[in-house]
Amino acid sequence: MTRKEFFSKAGFGAALILVPACIGGLTTSCSNDGSGSPAPAPSGVDFTVDVSTGSLATNGGFMVTNGIVIARTNTGTFLAVSAACTHDGTSVNYVASSNDFHCPNHGANFSNAGQHLSGPGSKNLTQYNTALTGSELRIFS
Ligand code: FES
Repeated sequence: MTRKEFFSKAGFGAALILVPACIGGLTTSCSNDGSGSPAPAPSGVDFTVDVSTGSLATNGGFMVTNGIVIARTNTGTFLAVSAACTHDGTSVNYVASSNDFHCPNHGANFSNAGQHLSGPGSKNLTQYNTALTGSELRIFS
């Protein structure tokens, strides 16, 4: 067997071993069919958070608590929407530069009011009310 023949056969064999592993990886970690069961949006919401410290103390920051993503825009106003992406349930992130929400899993985009804009899925996030008193932010249905 020549050197060229050896590498040719070895490479083909390795490919046969790796292909099923790659396909298996795609089916488990890259599902894009929306077949998951996102948690329902929280209801009966009424709680407060202290915005004088942590990520909400700075414009553009956000946090997730009680199934809700709370964001402080670059102009200092507060937003609150259900955190679970309506496609497959991944927690969405607030993107301060575009003032909207983005799902890092398959790329769905939602407006700052939670309206589905693009990407997988079609349902909106649930928007919640916010009211600031001093450094206490109330989030409520
Ligand atoms: S979980 Fe698929 S786009 Fe969010």
